[in-house]
Amino acid sequence: MKRILVVGAGGQIGTELIPHLQKHYGADQVIAADLKDESVTRLSTFSRAIKLDALDFASYGEAVKKYEIDSIFNLVALLSATGEKNPELAWKINMGALLNSLELAKEFHTALFTPSSIGAFGASTPHDHTPQDTVMRPNTMYGVCKVSGELLSDYYHERFGVDTRSVRFPGIISNGCLPGGGTTDYAVEVFYEVLGNGRYTCTVPRDAYMDMMYMPDALNAVTTLMEADPSKLVHRNSFNIASMSFTPEQLFAKIKERIPSFTWDYDIDPVKAAIAASWPDIMDDTCAREEWGWNPKWDLDAMIDDMLRTIASRLNK
Ligand code: SER
Repeated sequence: MKRILVVGAGGQIGTELIPHLQKHYGADQVIAADLKDESVTRLSTFSRAIKLDALDFASYGEAVKKYEIDSIFNLVALLSATGEKNPELAWKINMGALLNSLELAKEFHTALFTPSSIGAFGASTPHDHTPQDTVMRPNTMYGVCKVSGELLSDYYHERFGVDTRSVRFPGIISNGCLPGGGTTDYAVEVFYEVLGNGRYTCTVPRDAYMDMMYMPDALNAVTTLMEADPSKLVHRNSFNIASMSFTPEQLFAKIKERIPSFTWDYDIDPVKAAIAASWPDIMDDTCAREEWGWNPKWDLDAMIDDMLRTIASRLNK
């Protein structure tokens, strides 16, 4: 990877992937692209940044050509809960950005990373140690897009030789930019609420057990996979990766051990409750470990300590 374009760069993952890529490949080699003016303005404080609509094939192609891009990271997506509010729009955006990315990767011979998700699985998937290759019958539009995206990305690899690679991300916990519209967002929001006003109302059921991951591990997964020797990859789209799983109640109890005054309650969103219940408890990530050396570093306690420390210092607490 020498010249990198990240589309949808203004979101939770892109905001931290940009500095991670800059550190590895050089600040000048990374172009951050986003549709929203305010995101482009924010990104341009630490990166080369351009305004780009990934659904506009012509301007997306011009950017790939102009900046002589050899690797595209396609982070454009509506998340699970937002997707259920407007499924047609979710399909248009999620699949439209992917198809354009695949076509441009084919035309300009670039590598392409597109994240998949725990959302690619559904209620009929085995929840405990969810295998790499198993039943994938999601019942959200987000999940339908993720499974379709995995298939389409493998198709472009097999049919046209495009270097497509992907991981199935768990809920990602981070402190650079808030996620928006996801079922796992509670695990980020709670840290800001506990440090802001000492209490939190959770919209996901107390016993919703889901895969989660701290951002530094997620970023390392992306670059390690994209650097992996292609001859070792049996799978491509997409790899299970796992590092920790917990329920809201388990997370909040651990936070309370550190901040005894913290209180919480629940106001359940039925859509999120149904989505959370359909997702894996813990994915089996053996293939990622064997094929490209996936090896997460952060567990629940270390993540909580780092989140509290980082956000507290930012809020001057
Ligand atoms: N974090 C995403 C969501 O909750 C899952 O990939 O929608």
